Amino acid sequence: MDSIRITGGTPLNGTIAISGAKNAALPLMTCGLLTDERLTLTNVPKLADLATMAALLTQHGISVELHGRSITLGGAITNTVAPYEIVSKIRASFLVLGPLLARAREARVSLPGGDAIGARPVDLHLKGLEAMGAQIKLEGGYIEASAPDGLTGANIIFPFISVGATEHLLMAASLANGTTTLQNVAREPEITDLVKCLIAMGAKIEGIGSDTLIIEGVHRLHGATHEILPDRIEAGTYACAAAITGGRVFLENARAEDLGAVLAVLREAGVEVTELATGLVVERTKNLVGVDIVTEPFPGFATDMQAQFMALMTVAEGASMINETIFENRFMHVPELNRMGARINAVGASAIIRGVPKLSGAPVMATDVRAAFSLIIAALIAEGETTISRVYHLDRGYEAVEQKLAGCGAQIERVN
Ligand code: UD1
Repeated sequence: MDSIRITGGTPLNGTIAISGAKNAALPLMTCGLLTDERLTLTNVPKLADLATMAALLTQHGISVELHGRSITLGGAITNTVAPYEIVSKIRASFLVLGPLLARAREARVSLPGGDAIGARPVDLHLKGLEAMGAQIKLEGGYIEASAPDGLTGANIIFPFISVGATEHLLMAASLANGTTTLQNVAREPEITDLVKCLIAMGAKIEGIGSDTLIIEGVHRLHGATHEILPDRIEAGTYACAAAITGGRVFLENARAEDLGAVLAVLREAGVEVTELATGLVVERTKNLVGVDIVTEPFPGFATDMQAQFMALMTVAEGASMINETIFENRFMHVPELNRMGARINAVGASAIIRGVPKLSGAPVMATDVRAAFSLIIAALIAEGETTISRVYHLDRGYEAVEQKLAGCGAQIERVN
């Protein structure tokens, strides 16, 4: 198993190219099930999770061709079963259920189960598909679903905001009979990206970027080419990394409008962020100050940025408080950061971070993809050496981390 070794203390200076967004790429790949024609996605990041999704689509009968940073999907569905072995690896693979049901009128998809950051049920996905006429039962850990006459449009009001359920029902509704109205939908930039791709494939969707989407179902979708948007979480993550080291980094391709509240919070903490047409310049010349945050759906502060921001706050002046409202168990990085000298006290969904003058290197363990990077951020300014184990978590969501950080002067290496 690989680990990452970092010797802290070097300010990051240079350019980091932000890759395509993982959380957009995964649902976009499942759009390959919505048409027999060829769907080409460009600006595809090179990530372990995408290889897993490709394996799942392949066993459904879809051909997956990789050319550099493009993936072309095509072909007919030959198998409607999504096995536990794959779905349990990446939750987003559960999103194949709706497209399989819409196209093949039946599907057998493993329930994803919980994971390290929380129980993560899929009840909203299933209730939505049922409202669209699907018959659903649970058998041996698998969702067995059928819609012999196809899915039908429905009026669905989400009781709370879910990114995955919004994406799932959007795809299913695109091929349903009649009109579907989805209210209280997630407004994350990845949703807008998915809507754009579906429209390019011939879907009829109104309300893009708002909290209500109206989808007029069509009989078939066709092929298209779609460019995946830049990864806002990767951009925010490297912004925290640059800020903690007191460096200056150009985040090429990063888009301010996709970062929502994250940029305002960074600025409040003393980080300078300059918006250019081609990306963002992140620089810190003043001391960091503690800022309180609450994680919320977009455009609020993203839960996927919480661990990295916490790492930044460990060395800020004063205290900061973090309230995690999206996932119930997303503070697993706290004991690891504390092993490096941070003073964080987490109780329930809240954590208080009392800033310390310095961190010190230690052996630490990654528990999920964002927690893994929070340890890297801390290690970049810690005195001495930090070894981060279980970096397979990191590889799920960040492309070429060592190259991107070393290119800006970090002392980082992967150890086998
Ligand atoms: C997506 C992102 C993930 C991000 C999260 C919140 C992808 C591949 N993953 O995950 O990185 O952290 O959005 O921004 O895009 N919930 C239910 N029932 C449901 C669905 C969700 O109770 O049917 C709960 C979840 O447990 C969670 C909350 O709703 O507490 C939000 O989850 P959701 O927005 O659905 O997250 P994901 O789509 O799983």
